[in-house]
This record gives sequence, C-alpha cells and structure tokens, in this order.
Amino acid sequence: MDRYAVIGQPISHSKSPFIHAQYARQTGQELSYDAIEVAPAALEETLKRLHAEGYRGLNITLPHKIPVAKLCESVSERAQLAGAVNTLIRTDTGWRGDNTDGEGLVRDITHHLGLQIAGKRVLVLGAGGAGRGILKPLLDQKPAELVLSGRNPWKPEELVEQFKALGKIRPATHIALKGDLFDLIINATSAGHSGVELRLPGQILAEGGACYDLSYGKAFEPFAAWACTQDAVRVSDGLGMLVEQAAAAFEIWRGVKPDTKTVLQRVRQPQS
Ligand code: ATR
Repeated sequence: MDRYAVIGQPISHSKSPFIHAQYARQTGQELSYDAIEVAPAALEETLKRLHAEGYRGLNITLPHKIPVAKLCESVSERAQLAGAVNTLIRTDTGWRGDNTDGEGLVRDITHHLGLQIAGKRVLVLGAGGAGRGILKPLLDQKPAELVLSGRNPWKPEELVEQFKALGKIRPATHIALKGDLFDLIINATSAGHSGVELRLPGQILAEGGACYDLSYGKAFEPFAAWACTQDAVRVSDGLGMLVEQAAAAFEIWRGVKPDTKTVLQRVRQPQS
C-alpha cells in the first residue's frame, strides 16, 4: 500500500490524516496516511528514513515549512517564491518540494466562499512567513491592488520589493491604513495564536467587504470579533484553505482531484 504522512511538532492536533483518509475513500485509492511527530533536530534524518522506507509523499507543517526546503533535491518555483514547502513528492533519489497553501487559499475564497479576487482591493495583514506564502497566488488573480501591511514598515517594504514584478502591490503599516478601503482583508499574522486582537484603524473594510483569517479554532476568534465590528458580510476562518491545500497535494500525488465540499463540512464538525 502506498504510504504518506504529515510531519511536524506538535502533530497530534493535525486534521490532515482525517482529510486524506476521506479523499482516499472518496476516490477509491488504497493508501495509508500517518501523522509523525518530528523535532527540528531530527528533520534531516527523518526525511532520509521515510524515503528509505518507501513513503510516496509527505505534508510538512510547523515548524518545518521553511527549513525543509534546504533538504529537498529540488523545489518548485511557487515554493521558492513562498519561501516555504508544505508538500514533498518522492523522486527516485530524494524529495521534491512544493507549496499548495496559496492555491488552497485562493480556491477556498473563490470556490467555497464564492468571492472574487480579480479587480478587488485586497489587504494582507502580516509580512511574516504566512503572509509571504500567499502573495503570488493572490497577485495571479489580478486584484485591483494588493496592500501588504505590518506593524512596522520594514518587512512589508522588503517583501513588496521582491514581489512587485508580479503585480500591483504596495507596502503599508497598520496605522497608515487609515483612510484606505478594502473589499477583502486577509489576516496572515500570528497575533490570534497569542489571543491578541490586532490594532487596526476602523472603517477600512468597504461596504459588502469580507474578512478571512488563515488560522482556525481559538486563534481565529480575536480577528473574527474585529471583523464583526466592521460589518463584514463574510468572515471566514482558514479551515477551507486547509482542506483545499490538502486536495491540491492529493491531486499531485494521486493524479485525481477529490471533492472538497463534503470533506470541509465534515472537518467543521467538532469530532473530526
Ligand atoms: P508566520 O510563519 O506564522 O507568518 P512569522 O513569520 O513569525 O510567523 O510572522 C508572524 C506575523 O504576525 C508577523 O508579521 C508579525 O508582525 P511583526 O513582523 O511586526 O512581528 C505578526 N504579528 C504577530 N503578533 C502580532 C500582533 N500582536 N499584532 C500585529 N501583528 C502581529
């Protein structure tokens, strides 16, 4: 039986084994999918071991998404641009790294939420690893404008410099957003993981605008609370992105596209 796994630390909370088991059942594929806890110091040795054991593919989660790139035999262009790898594909001699996170986000926004990105004013909050990873897929959708905002100007400015050839993007600080209006605001900061609400100017969401958080569960709550005060017509967590990035990885590995809608409904049920 073909073997797959997700590796990270911690890993027990991961929904990936459940999601991939659903995709396998739905598409009639025979495979196993494990969750393997791997400490940073054991990453290189574990990748070699799993390759030797015959694993066909791996998903990579925190804290390995950045360091794993250096251990890959080759890395896709989109993973290089994202500066992170979330999917490994077996080759005869090693691992090829790819990144399906951005594709997952765009598919969730456009398919599940039914929102358009093309021609819209889009704000990404947070110029860390997660923010960087979604810039190219968002720019590919041709928004009217993409603004990348941080607490300080330096990181947004540095990232915008790297991505400005790919589309209309400009840097900002959260404070300087006052007076701007956006149709879609995406939270890519880690503030929610410490239970902290972002300090943002009010009235930056246009009428009929939507808010999206890459996080889910408890980490989503502070941003969701802020979005409600801004009268967002849609406020979404990142569970759809999780399900869609997994579907994109499954399709790369197995050559068949799973149906994500029913799986997303199941993932939203507390027992999954
Ligand atoms: P990740 O890989 O999750 O993106 P990261 O690279 O450490 O993690 O980036 C976290 C992002 O969340 C950063 O943009 C960080 O802002 P700074 O660059 O100013 O540190 C942002 N962030 C974390 N806590 C925040 C808070 N309380 N308010 C605003 N932004 C916050």
